[in-house]
Amino acid sequence: MAESTVDIKRGLEGVIFTETLLSAIDGNAGQLSYCGYDINDLAAGASYEETAFLLWYQRLPAENELEMLSDWLRANRRLPKVVWGIMHSLPEQATPMEALRTIASTLSMFDRSCVHEIEGGSSLCRAVSLTAKLPTIIASFDRLRRDRPPIEPRTDLGHAANLLYMLSGQEPDAAAADALETYFVLLADHGMNASTFSARVTASTLGDVFSSVVTALGTLKGPLHGGASQRSMEQLLEIGSPDKVDEWFDQRIAAKQRIFGFGHRVYKTEDPRATILRELSRQVAERSGNTQWFDISSRLEERVLSHPYFQERRIYANVDFYTGPLLYALDIPLDLFIPMFATARVAGWTAHLLEQQKNNRLIRPRAYYAGPRDRTWNEIVGREPLVEAQPDAHCVAGRPANCPAALEVPPRF
Ligand code: CMC
Repeated sequence: MAESTVDIKRGLEGVIFTETLLSAIDGNAGQLSYCGYDINDLAAGASYEETAFLLWYQRLPAENELEMLSDWLRANRRLPKVVWGIMHSLPEQATPMEALRTIASTLSMFDRSCVHEIEGGSSLCRAVSLTAKLPTIIASFDRLRRDRPPIEPRTDLGHAANLLYMLSGQEPDAAAADALETYFVLLADHGMNASTFSARVTASTLGDVFSSVVTALGTLKGPLHGGASQRSMEQLLEIGSPDKVDEWFDQRIAAKQRIFGFGHRVYKTEDPRATILRELSRQVAERSGNTQWFDISSRLEERVLSHPYFQERRIYANVDFYTGPLLYALDIPLDLFIPMFATARVAGWTAHLLEQQKNNRLIRPRAYYAGPRDRTWNEIVGREPLVEAQPDAHCVAGRPANCPAALEVPPRF
């Protein structure tokens, strides 16, 4: 292959590698649907359990079917006993997302009970098990790190209400539980986003459900994907008050730094989830009596939307922007924002895995080799070092300044 004939898509933009029956995005019209149902209708009427059913079976459940799935999820909320020991032994500096990734991975070693006779049944069983357990992991880890005892899940509460209950120990009011539930429905699936793609890559090797979900958790964490929810709230905290927005925005633009919570690979108009979250976030803030974070978001959005830089690039608020003030008003700690995203998206990840299993082909793209060719291998004794011997220099993890220059880690952004 000559370089001139290779069309490299570094971000796989526009590349369609499979068919899906799960979600459809129209990036120009700003529309999203799951299995043909508009996201606005689902957000207004469907529970998270109903949405998970829709994604796993590609149809809406009848009343008794929804009850069966809800019972199945409730019955799977508790963590195996042995996991508690591992949870207790996590280092103090572990972040919730690191804990979630680690414990979700650990679960595979203690979950041998999911065996169904029908083909694919055991994968669905594991999907249900993981979807039910992620909230318990998050809430338990959050309580343990605050020296509070974890709270057993309740089987009489829905998915969102139970998570809020396990975090605080108080049964949430209906409005708070509904707001979190709507957030979960909105984030349950979203086409071939980076974490879903990575889950499908793992599934395509005939990897198991746990491996796929752990792959997806690792991918979600990055600030260009799910990590943007936390980063966008950190921006609001850094700004501090609505009258400081202008100064912050001008400095950010002058420094050519990205603003988290804006821009999208597919949407070239407003993300329909942001439209719903903006209103939800306003309502929750007003009810809580503190609209400070919502007001900062609104002013920041105004500045972004009226600036030619963003207009020329068709950059609008994405799903992560109004997630910040919403989750913050629900008293969810900042570093639980990405785990919250994961709690919602696990239904989508596992639905994609089931879809991949039905019509599998190993996902294995290629890279264009752009390095030197035909070099001659020589014995190590004859090689010239690029780095001088520095007996006192050590590459200490997290402190690349101590590394010899040539071995330094490249900047991340
Ligand atoms: N702030 C400032 N400039 C931006 C932003 C932003 N948020 N987003 C894109 N741009 C600029 C970018 O610098 C580039 O400019 P130029 O043409 O001069 O080089 C242009 O817009 C195109 O950007 P890109 O990075 O090539 O576009 P992309 O399709 O790869 O970007 C994105 C998608 C989400 C990575 C990007 O918009 C971004 O970094 N946004 C901030 C992080 C964020 O909010 N991520 C959440 C994404 S949505 C939900 C999710 O996946 O979790």
